[in-house]
Amino acid sequence: MPKIHILDEATINKIAAGEVIERPASVIKELIENSLDAGATDIKIEVEKGGKKLIRVTDNGCGMDREDAALSFVKHSTSKIHRIEDIENVLTMGFRGEALSSICAVAKVELVTKSREGLAGTKVVIHGGKLNGITDTGVPDGTSITVEDIFFNTPARKKYMRSDSTELAHILDIVTKSALGNNNVSFTLLHNENVLIRSPASRLQETILHIYGQEVAREMLPVNFSSRFATFTGVVSKPAISRGTMDAQSFYINSRNVTSRALSFALKKGYGTLLPQGRFPIAVLKISVDTAEVDVNVHPTKNQVRLSHEWEISEALTLAVTDALSGHDLVPPVKTTQSLLYEKIETPTVIREEGSRFRTVVKDTQRRLRRTEMGTDRKSDTEKPQIKVLGQVDALYVIAETNDGLMIIDQHAAHERILFEQVRDSKREDSQELIVPINIELNPKEKVLMKECIPYLEEFGFLISEFGADAFAITAVPRVLGKLEDPGLVHDIIIDVLSEGKIKDETGISDRVTKTIACRGAIKAGANCTYEQMEQLIEQLFMTENPYTCPHGRPTMVFFNRDALDKLFKRS
Ligand SMILES: Nc1ncnc2c1ncn2[C@@H]1O[C@H](COP(=O)(O)OP(=O)(O)O)[C@@H](O)[C@H]1O
Ligand SMILES: [Mg+2]
Repeated sequence: MPKIHILDEATINKIAAGEVIERPASVIKELIENSLDAGATDIKIEVEKGGKKLIRVTDNGCGMDREDAALSFVKHSTSKIHRIEDIENVLTMGFRGEALSSICAVAKVELVTKSREGLAGTKVVIHGGKLNGITDTGVPDGTSITVEDIFFNTPARKKYMRSDSTELAHILDIVTKSALGNNNVSFTLLHNENVLIRSPASRLQETILHIYGQEVAREMLPVNFSSRFATFTGVVSKPAISRGTMDAQSFYINSRNVTSRALSFALKKGYGTLLPQGRFPIAVLKISVDTAEVDVNVHPTKNQVRLSHEWEISEALTLAVTDALSGHDLVPPVKTTQSLLYEKIETPTVIREEGSRFRTVVKDTQRRLRRTEMGTDRKSDTEKPQIKVLGQVDALYVIAETNDGLMIIDQHAAHERILFEQVRDSKREDSQELIVPINIELNPKEKVLMKECIPYLEEFGFLISEFGADAFAITAVPRVLGKLEDPGLVHDIIIDVLSEGKIKDETGISDRVTKTIACRGAIKAGANCTYEQMEQLIEQLFMTENPYTCPHGRPTMVFFNRDALDKLFKRS
């Protein structure tokens, strides 16, 4: 057995720092929280090289006098609580007194600060946890902390940092969530001296406009709801605007940004059947609860909390969302293919009464099927069985009779498979120029990711260029997307590809683009089809290489042969 010994202070601190500081974005999160706790109304964040080279957060908060400035870097030093009971009532973001000490343990830090009452400012320099000097200095009121060379002394961590854009994407997430959660504070984010976010102190709706752009801001509905254990305010998106991930959902409990599966689930539940599977709303929800109801000390980064009445609060959140959605015209403006809502509620009675809507759906399905019409070059080795379409169940499953039994086909999964193979096999040359380019507005994070994605998207036949400050113009699309009768679809595809957040590697992104195009371009679950369309679909499906599963590996069809049917009916 090796001899036991006690780790030295520096090692202990580096290990502990790992709990709080995972990547540049975590530094920014902690520094912003300190600024907010200091009562700042204006917070400026400067970043170089995705935060790997430099991070600087400057605020106009209360500042510190010399004594406090020196103490602030010591482990477990805090001005926010005195004893454990105080945690019960804590309203500040910080209270554990470990952010500054953790940051100092793994980076080169310079702090300049001045309190309003103080005559002079103070400058403190610390490298890798070692104090390099404290001096007087002339500075404006407030605090500015510069963090350079993060993880310079912890190579194992340094190795795990990703590309500048990926790190920047994480930073954008943090700043976005902070700005949305504190819309009364002004936030500015600069990367390599370019302004990425400028969000002045204003009403929440206006902050949404600055962060997510006009298109999203227009489609948000206010939430105002009170229940026994919580009060809810904020905004949620109309069903017409949804995303492929939960990225654009922000929850705040007593101003603290938290992630919570229970709350995300409750939010989605509030939409009932208004959103299809796999689509998520955009939301900014501020929940205020009695401080005694919430335990904020369950996670070092504090982005998870424990609620004493989580179930009741989740239920109330669902009601708050339903309430916000009720009484609004939720049918989206023009984009027929985005009309997830009315395709869902389509039933035979509705069809009789509102024939025009049915025709819109059928026309849309026709358009989608036409895109995937193939030439004669059959790839499939699969013998296409003799098939007679019998009908459709629940506007999703196609029921057909084959020479030997019964076949049930998932129309969406089947069409996804068809599109997937076509997109996968199409090349840059299979591109189609648009007569009218499509302009899409992106939020700051999406913008950064978009620049990284463009070369990959171009491989598929998209042609995309920057257009103005926040927008991109799409001038060509893959041919399989057809004659672009629907700009909304392209917009959705791009947003979906981007909203997954990080770009792993070339195969990762190609695959994702292919799957997204296939999924979003495919006939929807809930679309009524004519017999002819169902036949067309089956025809196309059996021309694919692998007709039996969708790109995600789910089956496109199930089959009961005569034997299986006989067994079911105990005839054998
Ligand atoms: N931007 C700032 N403005 C004023 N005081 C600050 C600022 N950042 C840190 N401090 C002071 O330094 C202390 C230590 O900060 P930190 O390590 O983040 O611990 P915590 O926030 O948990 O108290 C804080 O309690 C606060 O008094
Ligand atoms: Mg703190």
